[in-house]
Amino acid sequence: MAFLADALSRVKPSATIAVSQKARELKAKGRDVIGLGAGEPDFDTPDNIKDAAIEAIRRGETKYTPVSGIPELRKAISEKFKRENGLDYAPEQVIVGTGGKQILFNAMMATLNAGDEVIIPTPFWVSYPEMVAICGGTPVYAETRLEDGFKLTAEALEQAITPKTKWLIFNSPSNPSGAAYAEDELRSITEVLLRHPHVWILTDDMYEHLTYGDFAFTTPAQVEPELYGRTLTMNGVSKAYAMTGWRIGYAGGPIELVKAMDMIQGQQTSGTNSIAQWAAVEALNGPQDFIERNKKIFEGRRDLVVSMLNQAAGISCPTPEGAFYVYPSCAGLIGKTAPSGKTIETDEDFVTELLETEGVAVVHGSAFGLGPNFRISYATSEALLEEACRRIQRFCAACT
Ligand SMILES: Cc1ncc(COP(=O)(O)O)c(C=O)c1O
Repeated sequence: MAFLADALSRVKPSATIAVSQKARELKAKGRDVIGLGAGEPDFDTPDNIKDAAIEAIRRGETKYTPVSGIPELRKAISEKFKRENGLDYAPEQVIVGTGGKQILFNAMMATLNAGDEVIIPTPFWVSYPEMVAICGGTPVYAETRLEDGFKLTAEALEQAITPKTKWLIFNSPSNPSGAAYAEDELRSITEVLLRHPHVWILTDDMYEHLTYGDFAFTTPAQVEPELYGRTLTMNGVSKAYAMTGWRIGYAGGPIELVKAMDMIQGQQTSGTNSIAQWAAVEALNGPQDFIERNKKIFEGRRDLVVSMLNQAAGISCPTPEGAFYVYPSCAGLIGKTAPSGKTIETDEDFVTELLETEGVAVVHGSAFGLGPNFRISYATSEALLEEACRRIQRFCAACT
């Protein structure tokens, strides 16, 4: 439609939303569908957080807030960075946004000029390239490999850097692979960045609290303090506190960048929902014990899913360190014939046939820039996961 902006031609619709939509449509037609596409915890927001929001309403905290967030929340975030990450971000260096998504978007909006390159390791969270493209930048993909646990190597990063590189977007634990970088692995990345002082790092730490076993989370500016002056450390309450619908994300970074993001936000949303900000203060300052409880549950589910998928013919599933996703390869199914008689040529064919035949909704890897793979979100009950994996095993066994 000629009326629409050219920028729209640079954007693709979200494949993860499309899968959820397709699963909903099939369910509405009476099909028995298990949806493993959603990227949100199935737990409810803890009661102390809900109560803080209700009290905020009663107190009349219902007006516009400062654009970058209420002082109480910026202070709570500043203290969180110190307590959990050993990072000194003064409250003035902190900005609160409407979800991590707005933070990322505004960081791109505030910094990208036409032709600027942003390195995005594959597989990536679907929104990164789209945000970069909307803001006029050019996504440059740095491939990871299943054999490396989907982690970016120093060599791949080095190769992707050009004089036009502005940012590396770094995400650990990763959506969609669940891969998380141990300190030495992270150090191999920060060492490359030290050699390229024009490259900034936007670290998306959204899944920080969802790591398993004895994995210890670290973030780039903590591992390499020399990068502090060119790092934007992004995080949020959506995943760790089961608060996806409250829409609170935040970042700490150099004051000039934070001010620029504040200016954009001021003309855009005038700041984040006041009630949700008070809920986030309680999330960060209140009891944290349920995080450990949820982690144990997620870890049990991860182990179940990895084990059952590796028993499916043609599927190979590494064990990720974190988040609530697995990213198995379906390379062993490519070229085979599905029960419907259709040849499986791509991972998209695989997920389409799986949904049609067995009613299991997963997202194809090519949507995340690396395939043939698919993403399963295990943020659902063990009983459903077990049934879904049984169906996947049956589907794979029936492919000839
Ligand atoms: C890697 C990653 N970053 C950021 C976000 C956005 O989080 P929010 O819901 O706070 O906007 C998501 C949500 O799925 C995500 O997976």
